[in-house]
Amino acid sequence: MTAPPDAGTALPDLPSVSEAAFKAAMRALASTVCIVTSRHGGEANGMTATAVSSVAAAPPTVLVAVNRNNHSHALIRDGACFALNILSADQDGLAMRFAMRAPQPFATVAFSEGVTGCPLIEGCGTVLECVLASSLDVATHTIFIGRVVASRWSGELPLLYRDGQFGTMR
Ligand SMILES: Cc1cc2nc3c(=O)[nH]c(=O)nc-3n(C[C@H](O)[C@H](O)[C@H](O)COP(=O)(O)O)c2cc1C
Repeated sequence: MTAPPDAGTALPDLPSVSEAAFKAAMRALASTVCIVTSRHGGEANGMTATAVSSVAAAPPTVLVAVNRNNHSHALIRDGACFALNILSADQDGLAMRFAMRAPQPFATVAFSEGVTGCPLIEGCGTVLECVLASSLDVATHTIFIGRVVASRWSGELPLLYRDGQFGTMR
């Protein structure tokens, strides 16, 4: 049996950087902005998220990190599905709306129901519908991993978020 390459060279117990230093560094990341929609037991919700990533193509897999205090958390966990509605450059209004917990989040937002029953927001050209494949609790968040079961695509310029501001590619 081969020993792992770092056997015998364990790192010392290094402290974390401060939360302020971490947040300052994270401001350098430019991220695509999504509305993560969910549903369970007759209730539907949506939340703005940038902690979203592609994971693998076979099978098609994505992830989203959701704060356990968010209302969406229990809906995704218990409904076992979510949809990534990827916003285009002119949809910063939707990003702001779904960053504030609303009693009736879809009251003025047009949507249809996808194959999982999660809301698909009208006007979002790119949407990935997912069934929950697994999850991992990390610090204050849960990483939800979804297998993509339906999708649509548009080549519109994406809405980006960086250093506290919305923008786009050009
Ligand atoms: C640009 C932006 C990105 C965000 N990204 C995330 C994220 O990736 N994960 C998360 O848990 N919350 C994120 N939030 C915060 C949630 O959108 C916010 O807490 C929302 O009110 C949660 O809604 P809910 O409680 O109805 O689920 C983000 C907010 C903004 C403005």
